[in-house]
Amino acid sequence: MLYDKLKKYSKSGVYPFHMPGHKRNTALSDGTMPYEIDLTEIDGFDNLHNAEGCILEVQNLAERLYNVKKAFLLVNGATGGILSAVRAMTNRGDKVLVARNSHKSVYNALEICGLEPEYIVPAVDDEFGINCSITPLQVEKAIVKNPNTKLLIITSPTYEGVVSDIKEICRIAHLHNVMVLVDEAHGAHFPFSKSFPSEAVASGADAAVASLHKTLPSLTQTALLLTSNESLINSLAENLAIFETSSPSYIFMSAIEKCLEFCENASAFDEYIKRLNSFNEKCKSLKKIKVLCYGNDEVKNHRFFDFDISKITVSVRRLDINGTQLAEILRNDFKIEPEMVCSDYVLLISTVCDTDEGFARLINALQIIDSKCSVKELNAYRYSITIPKISVKPCECSGKDGEFCLLEHSIDKISLEYVWAYPPGIPIIAKGEIITQDIANIIIAQIASGINVCSTKGKIPKEIYCCI
Ligand SMILES: Cc1ncc(COP(=O)(O)O)c(C=O)c1O
Repeated sequence: MLYDKLKKYSKSGVYPFHMPGHKRNTALSDGTMPYEIDLTEIDGFDNLHNAEGCILEVQNLAERLYNVKKAFLLVNGATGGILSAVRAMTNRGDKVLVARNSHKSVYNALEICGLEPEYIVPAVDDEFGINCSITPLQVEKAIVKNPNTKLLIITSPTYEGVVSDIKEICRIAHLHNVMVLVDEAHGAHFPFSKSFPSEAVASGADAAVASLHKTLPSLTQTALLLTSNESLINSLAENLAIFETSSPSYIFMSAIEKCLEFCENASAFDEYIKRLNSFNEKCKSLKKIKVLCYGNDEVKNHRFFDFDISKITVSVRRLDINGTQLAEILRNDFKIEPEMVCSDYVLLISTVCDTDEGFARLINALQIIDSKCSVKELNAYRYSITIPKISVKPCECSGKDGEFCLLEHSIDKISLEYVWAYPPGIPIIAKGEIITQDIANIIIAQIASGINVCSTKGKIPKEIYCCI
């Protein structure tokens, strides 16, 4: 299909008097740059924004594997899909219900689409301090309180693998004529094993965005926008033409094809599940370190509807080291680089491409750290996300006059910027919200424990941009 066609064309002897500027001249690099298959929309190579040929075939493959009516290939990450889907599913001024633990791309979509958000705040897990599932009851209450809601946006699975009851949530939302968009960026692998939770569109979501590059063997920036709601297909396509590049990378698109072909091979996923099961057994030997839903910990200990076992969240809350220190030990002593570091835990992402050696190295490291570290007294969590006080709609913030304030002097002022820990990229405060002492404390505590906290204007940790 696409990849083979690109390869064949690279050997065809046709001279490129067209973009890209490297002219497929492989002599320009030491062979590491795949110039020979980096094409543009020349004759016979289809057009992502109006796919009819070899790109449509890749989309059809995705539709079959994800069991959806329409799959759009994304080359600007899940971000491009989220911006497009939110704009396609709303009109300016609409009220939208949004899980507060949404990625910043969702907040950016709210702002550029001129939407009025109402947040649903997930409970925080007592042991791990992570966000629990959004419950159907929370959704029902929020819809009843906001009867003119147009769209519900929810992240499932979360970065840490927490899954919400999308089926029941969609049933309730649809009863009230509310559409549902699921940010499934971390769940692209769900269709490929029964050991993973159900996919969002199959569970009733009107649209979902899945990042292939996060949990499957694809290139960074590749993702899919999925829907089985036929009435949305045209407006999704129109909006993708706005938010996605007009020069989509054929390398990315052929990486999507290769990834999907790989995923058709179920045996790789069977092997992967065996590795995860074996890791689970070995985690039972850990005495102080806790691994979320692994070893002696179970899904039923948490307020989770379901859990994605590909995520390995290692809590050091009971140990005399913090998350940053655990990450340093893993990095320096065991040559293991984690995905995300928080004050009390470290998140490691496993995928179907991990090796037995990789898992052996991880469990060996955890067992050694577990035996060397001491236990500390357990403190209750001091921080949790609360319902933000929205003073100005995010879309109305851009015209406002602002000034930089020292964080400690910003209490009760309106933030004109986003502040987030990266990763995961979930805002601690969003534009138009009132800065409370609790929020300032969270920012200060995160920075103190070595977390990378960023802001739109870039002056955090010292200053935050506020409304005058
Ligand atoms: C939950 C969630 N949604 C969306 C995104 C954006 O994905 P991408 O980097 O593919 O644009 C991320 C990125 O980390 C994420 O964690």
